[in-house]
Amino acid sequence: MKKVPLQDLPLQYQTIKEELAPEIEQILSSAAYILGPAVSRFEENFARYVGTKYCIGCGSGTDALHLALIAAGVEPGDEVITVSYTFVATAWAISYCGATPVFVDIDPHTYTMDPKKLEAAITPKTKAVLPVHLYGHTCDMDEIMAICKRHKLALIEDAAQAHGSIYKGKNAGTFGVSSCFSFYPGKNLGAFGEAGGVCTNDSAMADHLRRLRNHSQGQRYYYDELGFNYRMDGLQGAVLDVKLRHLPKWTEMRHQVAKNYKLSLAGLPGLVLPEIKQWCTTNWYLFVIQHPRRDELQKHLAARGVESALHYPLPVHLQKAYAHLGYKPGDLPVSETVAKRCLTLPMFPEMTDEQIDQVTDAVREFCVK
Ligand SMILES: Cc1ncc(COP(=O)(O)O)c(C=O)c1O
Repeated sequence: MKKVPLQDLPLQYQTIKEELAPEIEQILSSAAYILGPAVSRFEENFARYVGTKYCIGCGSGTDALHLALIAAGVEPGDEVITVSYTFVATAWAISYCGATPVFVDIDPHTYTMDPKKLEAAITPKTKAVLPVHLYGHTCDMDEIMAICKRHKLALIEDAAQAHGSIYKGKNAGTFGVSSCFSFYPGKNLGAFGEAGGVCTNDSAMADHLRRLRNHSQGQRYYYDELGFNYRMDGLQGAVLDVKLRHLPKWTEMRHQVAKNYKLSLAGLPGLVLPEIKQWCTTNWYLFVIQHPRRDELQKHLAARGVESALHYPLPVHLQKAYAHLGYKPGDLPVSETVAKRCLTLPMFPEMTDEQIDQVTDAVREFCVK
């Protein structure tokens, strides 16, 4: 039996190998290993793709979040409101600043920050709000922006999963004072290692971010504040710049896969399919279903050669690392329920009809038996 992987990065590499080779050669032969012209070119092109004036390339999406929070003025003792149903790095970055993550629940349909829960979580210590465009579905930005404006809070978008996602005609990553992207290999735009970027329209903030990522160096060997080695590798800039040319086509191909999934899986008992709000165009980073017998379904799929994954099995507020914050089960009921029921199916642009059929046949067999 042929296996259907969650993603197929080796296959994608084969499709762009020839285009990549001279760009990689150029980095190696010019020894532009860290930052350099390829990173600058990518920063310009990615900012244009997102629709911001600037992109500041850095070492990872986690670095991007840390830098963006510092540049927005988050300091020890502050609170930053975010979601618990996310990849843990969203919360790490807040903690790295010495600030406290305050978790609010998600909307059960979009899996993103429930704006109705946001206002109640604001205290005099709140400095910023960090919503996450999860799985590529954008947050309900109008509501979130209105609340941030009313309370004078900095809005930073965790757009690590949202390259090319659109909210009411505007790209994810253009709503906050800054937005943070991950170019982790498995993302819709993925590097050949770790990489990330912060996007912003604010030129002073862009300058600050550029200094912060480079040991806070303005003049060489002079440092005005605590800095970081969060620079992007030249090689990653070169690879990402090539891959960016293909991103619109790859996103379109993901849409086709999602459409086929939805057609084949519609109406199955117990199965909840992703729901995309009419104000959102997702980038289909992940195709996540829910089922009350999720663990059994996952085993059933594995036995039929279908890889699947859990994004995410335990919300951040219940992780041991955050026990000191004092959250307990039941505090964020939607996040906790979805975490028990979610299952990520294979999703990548190059998926064949046969692979899609293998997945949907296996899911259908489980649901109707
Ligand atoms: C929502 C979210 N935030 C932050 C990150 C951190 O990005 P990275 O893995 O590039 O550090 C990721 C990705 O892994 C993510 O999915």
